[in-house]
Amino acid sequence: MKHLTRRHRVSAGTEALALFVGLSNAASRRLVACTQCRYNSTGTSPSGNVTVDGKSYQTDEWHNLSSNITASISRRLHVQKDHPISITRSIIESRFPSPTFKYHNNFFPVVSTQQNFDSLGFPVDHPGRSKTDTYYINQETVLRTHTSAHQADVFRANESEGWLISADVYRRDAIDRSHYPIFHQMEGARMWDRTKAPNGDIAAAVLKDIEALPKHSMKVEDPNPPTHPERNPLQKEHSLTEAEAIAAHLKKSLELVVVEIFSRAKAAAVSANPDFVDERLKVRWIEAYFPFTSPSWELEIFWQGDWLEVLGCGVVKQDIMDKAGQPQQLGWAFGMGLERIAMLLFEIPDIRLFWSKDERFLGQFRGLSENLDNLRRFVPFSKFPSCYKDVAFWLRSSSSSAGGGSRANTQDFHENDVMEIVRDIGGDVVEDVAKVDEFAHPKTGRRSLCYRINYRSLERTLTNEEANGYHEQVRKALVEKLGVELR
Ligand code: DAH
Repeated sequence: MKHLTRRHRVSAGTEALALFVGLSNAASRRLVACTQCRYNSTGTSPSGNVTVDGKSYQTDEWHNLSSNITASISRRLHVQKDHPISITRSIIESRFPSPTFKYHNNFFPVVSTQQNFDSLGFPVDHPGRSKTDTYYINQETVLRTHTSAHQADVFRANESEGWLISADVYRRDAIDRSHYPIFHQMEGARMWDRTKAPNGDIAAAVLKDIEALPKHSMKVEDPNPPTHPERNPLQKEHSLTEAEAIAAHLKKSLELVVVEIFSRAKAAAVSANPDFVDERLKVRWIEAYFPFTSPSWELEIFWQGDWLEVLGCGVVKQDIMDKAGQPQQLGWAFGMGLERIAMLLFEIPDIRLFWSKDERFLGQFRGLSENLDNLRRFVPFSKFPSCYKDVAFWLRSSSSSAGGGSRANTQDFHENDVMEIVRDIGGDVVEDVAKVDEFAHPKTGRRSLCYRINYRSLERTLTNEEANGYHEQVRKALVEKLGVELR
């Protein structure tokens, strides 16, 4: 089952472009659905108030927002003129023209668990709902974890045949050059109405729309049948011809996005180096699972030796349309991470750069919104030295039995709590946090972990004293907030 985690654990040496998964998938998380997490980084009492971008909310014991997250909510990088995330959004929007597509770029980031999960058919025990993965304001209110949170509302409003939603999304996650707790997604959908298609023939209407799309010559691998009874089922409300036509329109539309991005990336590379020769672009469709589409797929791009997942998509579950009061409509939806695409497009090596206010970063994109044909690759400013510090600790044993032999219960530990503590203290000065050692005491079973933190600023050289200062605070907070015992 997919959603809210990532497949690609990134090895430190891999270039950032081969990294970021702005989407999701649960392989690594499926087993850990810890809702007991004790860590609440704001230190607010369980019931109180918190203000998010000007609106006040009641908190409860589910609250787990940290102040540096709350402070970044108002940045809205996807609509900042000349910001690379915003430029990437505009380029993709250009492939989905108005008025068929309406663009929604201002949806508020606080949503209900109903919008974020229930409206999309997420089961109640889905790991994506856990406090370790999602930022909760209170039990019923979260920072959206994906732009799909707005699907049902936009379908209900029924203002256009197609739409795009671009927005900031929030997930508690690892720290490295391709993961940041706030990132941006674009969601898109295109519906056809049975009552409006000539003779009610949706398949014919869709095929006609496919004819109108431009042609491309990119090589695409698509080895699977459009539907498969077990792996990728046709919905009972759809005929096979309808689902096939919708799938073909969906895939073609998204392939054209890839062609658009890569031809612009190539032009940017050639302008930096006229002798630039690119690898032949390869993309492939693989079968996927999402609770809100069937059949479903992911698109992967072969880039610098790796297959990268860039988006998820599928035929919208009819149940969502029924509940949105539009049972006569059917069509497709997709979701993609904008950072990943922007990193490919501009060759931006570290996701923290998007948050930089440094002129050496922002200045490189100035004026591009008005002249998208003039894209240039990002030229890194000097790389400052790394400062690695390790912290090793025993996990708290929640078993209080004095008699020997009882095994430590470390169920309520989740790595994301360590990440959040480090993030709270070091902010963007932390480049990467990696677990470098783990073992269980042979007699007590108590678990010991060691994390290596790389303190490196993107903007200046850190002194060893500064790094030590951060590290000392991290060590203290681990003890205070997670109850670990330092080794
Ligand atoms: N919301 C999904 C995620 O964040 C991405 C996605 C997949 C969106 C398939 C869609 C879709 O609209 O059809 O992982």
